Amino acid sequence: MSAHIQKVAQAAYKLFSRLGSGVKISPPYEGLYEVAGLFSQLREPDVFEPNSKLLYRDRKLLPDIDEAPVTYVPVWDDKVLTICMFILKKGSRLPMHDHPNMYGLLKVLHGSLTITSYSPYLDHSPPLPPTLAASFKYANQIKPVKPMGKKTISASDDCVVLTPESGNYHEITAESGQAAFIDILAPPYDSSDRQCTYYSVIPNQDSVSDITYLIKVHCPTDYWCNEEQYTGPDLHLHF
Ligand SMILES: [Fe+2]
Repeated sequence: MSAHIQKVAQAAYKLFSRLGSGVKISPPYEGLYEVAGLFSQLREPDVFEPNSKLLYRDRKLLPDIDEAPVTYVPVWDDKVLTICMFILKKGSRLPMHDHPNMYGLLKVLHGSLTITSYSPYLDHSPPLPPTLAASFKYANQIKPVKPMGKKTISASDDCVVLTPESGNYHEITAESGQAAFIDILAPPYDSSDRQCTYYSVIPNQDSVSDITYLIKVHCPTDYWCNEEQYTGPDLHLHF
């Protein structure tokens, strides 16, 4: 019997391999939610060894001011999809970033995470209010987005789904303690039209609408990763 992570990854691979031939996964995203249903059943023991040092090391016993706030664990990466895990120390975050023209599934495996999401305006971007346009030298660095709310999810919750149309910008914070999640992203980031950009919410915006304005920023200095090896079941993915 194959491991659950293998079943999820194979189902995602079959779905997202269609993207390579230009097929869009359009609303109501039927195949996507089938994969999401399988992914939601994934649990910590499916991918982490019992008492994994990545999750259960007492970091306070190993003080190191250079220790990265976030650990990145690559699981799979090819031209169809990326599967990876992030382990966040208490209080750390993946700063606001985007997934341009990508689909994403995020499953919490350990602890809980607070996710603040926004959706893009794809066709008709609302104009900048004159006050914002006048106060920023580079107005073209500002993105109007639709707030999708802030929610805290734990390992017992279903996975979070993002699409090119919805929830494509998010910040992920481990507010209450160390936490870990696994991501399936497709198509993967690349160096041309799917680069990851970081953003900051412009504060003190006029509260005249449900539009939030983000501004592009360099990667925040409180975020960096070290990398650890994946030790879960091997994956064998094919069309
Ligand atoms: Fe993300």
